[in-house]
Amino acid sequence: MRSSFDRTLSNGVSRPMLGQRGCLMLLDIHDVTKTYPGAEAAVLRGVSFSMDRSDMLALTGESGSGKSTLLHLIGGLDSADSGVVAIEGTDLTPLNDVGRAALRRGTVGVIFQQFNLIPSLTVAANIAFQARLAGRHDPDRAQALADRLGLGEHLHKYPEQLSGGQQQRVAIARTLAAQPKLVLADEPTGNLDEATADTVFALLCELVEETGAGLILATHSERLASRMARRLHLRAGRLT
Ligand SMILES: Nc1ncnc2c1ncn2[C@@H]1O[C@H](COP(=O)(O)OP(=O)(O)OP(=O)(O)O)[C@@H](O)[C@H]1O
Ligand SMILES: [Mg+2]
Repeated sequence: MRSSFDRTLSNGVSRPMLGQRGCLMLLDIHDVTKTYPGAEAAVLRGVSFSMDRSDMLALTGESGSGKSTLLHLIGGLDSADSGVVAIEGTDLTPLNDVGRAALRRGTVGVIFQQFNLIPSLTVAANIAFQARLAGRHDPDRAQALADRLGLGEHLHKYPEQLSGGQQQRVAIARTLAAQPKLVLADEPTGNLDEATADTVFALLCELVEETGAGLILATHSERLASRMARRLHLRAGRLT
């Protein structure tokens, strides 16, 4: 799969192409490789793709195929061994942890596979926390998000007092409250029964669409992946 960096890197100039509306592509991944320290085999072996603003795509692949790894590289939580991971034309690969964190705070929101909620904060404070970091805390918007995700009754509770499905919805609300341009959702319905998964999936897509953000949704669910406009599949470290 080609990315928009393909034609520029051949002559050594990393000048990203523009997307449909004359703006920089939201995300440009080119020839990314990643091997974890001490591991024999590479997890990612030359992954390339691009997405424009508001693109929504599903990322599938069997367990261990590298979906979370790829999302962590895009979210600036880890760095690639080689290649380009560019958000709006800024390559994350040469940035240090501080630089990557700054870019992540303002631009990318990650809904983690394991939620990563802050145990000592209430649901309301968990939702507000990330939005404050991004400088975008809006109490009315946070309340509306919580209500739409069915969390209105639980705002004063702590994560340990919630079911897995409720925690998952807090993780979604927390990410969307910060209004990122790119949402990375790692198995956001993995802990839910089928009916609830369908509802949460539809709501997530609707909420992301309303903000005009892009979405990459990693999932094992063929049913949900087939509902997304674009699909990427990871196999043996490459996209198919
Ligand atoms: N921090 C890490 N250190 C070492 N190896 C890791 C680390 N994280 C993941 N791996 C390994 O990298 C490979 C890809 O893992 P990853 O979590 O990206 O897969 P995945 O596609 O998200 O799987 P799942 O569908 O089960 O969530 C696996 O073999 C895993 O054991
Ligand atoms: Mg994973």
